Amino acid sequence: MNFTIVRFDSIDSTNTQALKYARHGAGEGLCVVARQQNAGRGRQGRSWISPNDAGLYLSVVLRPKIATRHLPLITFAAAVAVHENLAGIGLKPDIKWPNDVLINEKKICGILAEMAETNFGLAVVLGIGINITSESFPPEMVDSAASISAELKRPVIVSEVEESLLPGIDQWYSRLQEPEGHSSIVDAWTARSTYFRGKKVRATLNGGPITGITDGLEPNGALRIKQANGRTINIQAGDVEQLRTED
Ligand code: BTN
Repeated sequence: MNFTIVRFDSIDSTNTQALKYARHGAGEGLCVVARQQNAGRGRQGRSWISPNDAGLYLSVVLRPKIATRHLPLITFAAAVAVHENLAGIGLKPDIKWPNDVLINEKKICGILAEMAETNFGLAVVLGIGINITSESFPPEMVDSAASISAELKRPVIVSEVEESLLPGIDQWYSRLQEPEGHSSIVDAWTARSTYFRGKKVRATLNGGPITGITDGLEPNGALRIKQANGRTINIQAGDVEQLRTED
């Protein structure tokens, strides 16, 4: 994939902007990067706090040619790319289902993929936010969020992270599109996630919370959770949180 980068000093949301470009026919690899977002969006309707130069805020337009049931795996491929990137600079990341990248259980990266049917075919906008510094975290984020420079205890430049991440996104997204690519991505994700099996979690579903032990992924990335009553539930969307074993 050839990346064409469009840069903004300040924008509402790089995902929103990339969706606009996709609706106007942008092809695969168009990438929106902003130094700051005023209305950064997260999963589950949350916002993504995006102060100036404190994180990498990036959205790539994709035009995937894979089975619809495998589209959720795009974010898994991206999480693998981010994991590999952070491991490459000396961190010890983990992936929490479905695609939060954590350092010591604190979130360092969030991924939001959004789909749009356009006059030019299906587009997926893959949005990635990586915390680079912790200095402008609001107080409520201090205990739950990590940043690269705080972890490495040295200043880190946002553009360096961007440059090293994009080839990894290309590589793992290409892998997903190969024959049997979906199982390569599930394997790559499970190799990098302690949440994949044997973790006691609570998942928040529409019908209320359920607790159980994680028991691997379905081929489309759904998380299997084995409940105390022996029933296994597959979670397609939502959030999970780790529980202490005594909970
Ligand atoms: C999450 O809730 O974990 C997903 C967060 C995704 C944030 C990124 S920052 C770049 C892109 N633009 C957005 O508005 N959101 C994504």
